Amino acid sequence: MQYRLSNKTISELSCDYELCFVEGDKIENLEDKDVLELCKFGEGDVMDVPTSRRVYASLEDKDLESIRLVLAKVVSEIKGYKIKSLKTKLPVNDASIEDIYAAFVEGFELSMYSFDKYKSDAEESTLDELVLCEVADTDLESAEKGLDRGLKIANATNYVRDIVNEIPQVYTPQKMAEDARALTELEGVSCEIFGKEYLKEQNMNAFLAVNQASPHDPVLVHMTYKPSGESKGKYAFVGKGLTYDTGGLSLKPTQFMLTMKSDKGGAAAALGVIKAAAELKLPFEVHAVLGCTENAIGGKAYKPDDIIRTREGVTIEVTDTDAEGRLVLADCLSWAQDMIKPDYLFDMATLTGSISVGIGIYTTGIIGNNMSLQHDFKINGERSGELLSIMEFNKHLRPLIKSKIADIKNSVSGGSGGAITAGLFLDKFIKPEYKDKWLHLDIAGPAYAESAWGYNHVGGTGAGVRFCVYYLLSKM
Ligand code: BES
Ligand code: ZN
Ligand code: ZN
Repeated sequence: MQYRLSNKTISELSCDYELCFVEGDKIENLEDKDVLELCKFGEGDVMDVPTSRRVYASLEDKDLESIRLVLAKVVSEIKGYKIKSLKTKLPVNDASIEDIYAAFVEGFELSMYSFDKYKSDAEESTLDELVLCEVADTDLESAEKGLDRGLKIANATNYVRDIVNEIPQVYTPQKMAEDARALTELEGVSCEIFGKEYLKEQNMNAFLAVNQASPHDPVLVHMTYKPSGESKGKYAFVGKGLTYDTGGLSLKPTQFMLTMKSDKGGAAAALGVIKAAAELKLPFEVHAVLGCTENAIGGKAYKPDDIIRTREGVTIEVTDTDAEGRLVLADCLSWAQDMIKPDYLFDMATLTGSISVGIGIYTTGIIGNNMSLQHDFKINGERSGELLSIMEFNKHLRPLIKSKIADIKNSVSGGSGGAITAGLFLDKFIKPEYKDKWLHLDIAGPAYAESAWGYNHVGGTGAGVRFCVYYLLSKM
């Protein structure tokens, strides 16, 4: 899609279709006032009037997310139309011009996304030009900046959606390593890939245990983006990259196994953060550590009752092979602290089903020890439109992960508070000097949509990229 800025008025420009933003229910001065009135067009509504080649969109609120959200409805109205160009005039609100333009492109690009490589009758959209009219000369530079930023953020999100949507047959740990390596084409990005032998040397036995039954070797990916100028901080993102989670010998029932290609969502999001950081030329050193493996079944599989000695030396009693993400993350977090020594350490993972029970499927859970870091991440991350909720540790939950025969166990029976006990498990692998610099982000709810919501389509949503990038943007 080509975005073009114009200082012409909307009626001066000829395009195949027009998108007309409406403030609440103020329709008095609109061309199609009669039809809109007839159909009781109101706040938050989207109405298509093909006879006058216009689609009307009323914003529910004055915030940026309302712009993104209304575009999902607009796009679903006009996506199938044989139109090549669309013109519109962006609404104004209290936000800056740059933010409004960025939100518009984000909403539009995320709504236009589709994953149809396996569909024989997939229809390509004919739309290839979007003209944003009535841009004042004084706003031109900010509008351009917003367009550029929004496009890069949306592209990184759609890139992550593609990874999550790819099938387990194709998307193995080796494929993830390939994708990581391909990102080194971007300026400032480098990549190291470590295999099974290295994991053994590093005593990453929890990571290795999860991989044991898989025909595909595990891969540890370390990506680095370094800005060309001075760095304003070093951030590391550790991602859970389970290219498939069958549950292992604690096998998932069919209906729960389906969609587990999305268990690589955390690692995919970390790749997306690197891509966006490099394309936006952010002034930070950004690292991504991806723990990639399948959780398979078979004669070689690790078992409930096994005890594993991790890289940190902490021993784990395996009580459920389906609680595998925390095992992989335990070793990756340990490695990242020693090898990268970042200023901040964030992990992203589709870690628990419990998180959605607690806060719903639309929201990411923030877990950690440092309240002010959690609040800061929530406030700035949510500017992206992604939802974040803080889940607190407490002293009664903390002992629940204790094991009778090892230091800790990997699942807690009974299951209540499962997202937090998973966080407490990870906390065992955070060194004292990192306690206040670490956040765990459980994206198990929003990473994959079983039915469409907002500008997310069925399948991978790209959860995680946008809140991380917006968080980083707040530190500029
Ligand atoms: N990958 C799953 C978590 C998950 C569930 C992600 C649903 C997305 C949607 C994870 O490995 C898992 O199976 N967790 C278990 C942990 C339990 C056995 C302690 C869970 O949450 O049920
Ligand atoms: Zn699992
Ligand atoms: Zn999993």
